Amino acid sequence: MGAIDVHTHAVPRGWPDLGEGKPWLRVESEREAVIMIRSAQFRRIGSECWDPEIRLRDMAADGIDLQVVSPTPVFFSYDTPAREGERISRIFNDLALEMCTGPRLVPFCQVPLQDPDAACRELERAVASGHRGVEIGNHVGDRDLDDAGIVTFLQHAASLDVPVFVHPWDMPESPRLDRWMARWLTGMPAETHLSIIAMILGGVFDRVPPSLRMCFAHGGGSFAFWLGRFENAWHQRSDTIAKSALPPSQYVDRFSVDSVVFSPVALRALVDSLGAQQVMVGSDYPYPLGERPAGAVVRSADFLSPQDADAILSGNARRFLGAATVDPMLGRSESPPAV
Ligand code: CO
Repeated sequence: MGAIDVHTHAVPRGWPDLGEGKPWLRVESEREAVIMIRSAQFRRIGSECWDPEIRLRDMAADGIDLQVVSPTPVFFSYDTPAREGERISRIFNDLALEMCTGPRLVPFCQVPLQDPDAACRELERAVASGHRGVEIGNHVGDRDLDDAGIVTFLQHAASLDVPVFVHPWDMPESPRLDRWMARWLTGMPAETHLSIIAMILGGVFDRVPPSLRMCFAHGGGSFAFWLGRFENAWHQRSDTIAKSALPPSQYVDRFSVDSVVFSPVALRALVDSLGAQQVMVGSDYPYPLGERPAGAVVRSADFLSPQDADAILSGNARRFLGAATVDPMLGRSESPPAV
């Protein structure tokens, strides 16, 4: 059966040079470009990043019916003044919509999260113009997801019924982390783990409505593996841990994670720790640390019941994105039973 991939990225064709240290594209050919930060190469990319035809071809090869297409985080620009950040988000979001006009590409916008008012404003504008969700970075400088302004934004997303995809980015740098891609291999999972802890211990899940749909990238980072340690600390060190209303394990049904963990053992840990209803196929397409074919580990997981496999492949994503988004894109006129 076809699956829904909730974690892919795009870089729009025609991204303008905005100057002042903003990411810009050095176009090498019709099929190749380099994301540049000032005069430094950030990442070499191919036309999968912007060409819907290539994406649809790869989706067909991988058995993916729908792709959620999110920004590439380096374009978030949270470190710029709010007005400039809002302008950059608008440019990115409008170009992304031009790319996602084809069937089966579900656009997620970005917002200037450094300013809650501007972020809420751009979310409303982007959704009105066709975006179906929002991708946010897991922090804004030293402000994590329990920052008052970010909580305001999450409450606004809930009120608009817009799904939120949280992606790690802007990982700490140090000589120890600036080799072997360590910022990606240890930094990204640690960042995501920290932000889920902030959602719980910062009391965010106690303040946002249960209807808020959130998904964390890369299997939620280190969180599922260390939930037991976290739970123990919550009980044993209440003197230093700002407590949530409930123990951490009571919040695992408040968010989803994607399946891009590459190993059946890790996928099983996600399902056992968080529940099969909380896991969705994600691939990180088209980047080299992503899974190809997308969803391969889920499809090969013989420990999943057929019902759980269906939920992870598409049912949970249909709930995350909303039937109103998913069903028309798949050409379904009648809603199948809820999973
Ligand atoms: Co990603």
